Amino acid sequence: MGSTIYVNGRITGESEAVVPVLDHGFLYGEGVYEVMRTYRRTPFLYGRHMARMRRSAAMIDLEVPFTDEYLLGEIGKTADRFYQGQGPEGDGVELYIRVLLTRGVGAITYDTRSCPAPTVVIIVKPQVDPPPEAYDEGVKVILVPIVRNHPGSVNPLIKSNNLLNNALAWQQARRQGGFEAIMRNYRGEISECSQSNLFVVKDGQAATPPLEAGLLAGITREFVFECGQSAGVPIREATLLDADLFDADELFLTSTTREIVPIVQVDDRKVGTGRPGPVTRTLLAEFRRRIPEGL
Ligand SMILES: Cc1ncc(COP(=O)(O)O)c(C=O)c1O
Repeated sequence: MGSTIYVNGRITGESEAVVPVLDHGFLYGEGVYEVMRTYRRTPFLYGRHMARMRRSAAMIDLEVPFTDEYLLGEIGKTADRFYQGQGPEGDGVELYIRVLLTRGVGAITYDTRSCPAPTVVIIVKPQVDPPPEAYDEGVKVILVPIVRNHPGSVNPLIKSNNLLNNALAWQQARRQGGFEAIMRNYRGEISECSQSNLFVVKDGQAATPPLEAGLLAGITREFVFECGQSAGVPIREATLLDADLFDADELFLTSTTREIVPIVQVDDRKVGTGRPGPVTRTLLAEFRRRIPEGL
């Protein structure tokens, strides 16, 4: 099943979806994005994703040219077109929704005044969950030497289309057989993964690096804090070092498209028992129980 793509109001299949090369999103990576997914064909935590998109856009001085309600309508039209193209095969398919907002088309200059209108893209395709083994057996991750962007440079709080830092880290982890890459910040502390946030569990308590460590404020990360409260699992923010990973009872990663995935190996070292642990399982069960609240 291919993607259905909206570009400034025009909805087509993926081969016809194009953005001009003079778009500053293409020329300079100037733009922001969000990735959402549906459950029961409804975007999960939509309001939170849009609030983050507005924060990201404000951090690069980019105007968001739509209301949340308007964009939801445009996502709905794109999703309808996707499902129309599938027929009965589309039944039961949930969606991955990527919304991109770029500076738009302009002259070859960094002057934002040359770009009168931002470009809006919506990519809709089937949500592909991690394989069941990832949840049942856990995954291996690689602690990579590529340093997460310094917050004083391209701040990781901006969910930016400029993903070279993340892509290089992920590609390195992949070459070493990892499902994900863990990155440190410029101080050598653990920050996050290339496309997910990271939690450690020790003595029944979970911890994750603070935003100040230079990481994306994951929507799932935030929801997991709330799941910890309702499930009776204490979760806090804490500065984490390499030793905290190797000393942990459990580790897990979180993201919109993966929910909560247990990590059982970092590089060639086993985490805890080498099996997904009880705290991770409790939080995942609580997360899934609470999904209807976010629809
Ligand atoms: C760098 C990075 N960190 C964390 C996340 C997880 O964020 P969320 O839970 O909002 O999907 C992502 C998601 O794409 C990401 O790219």
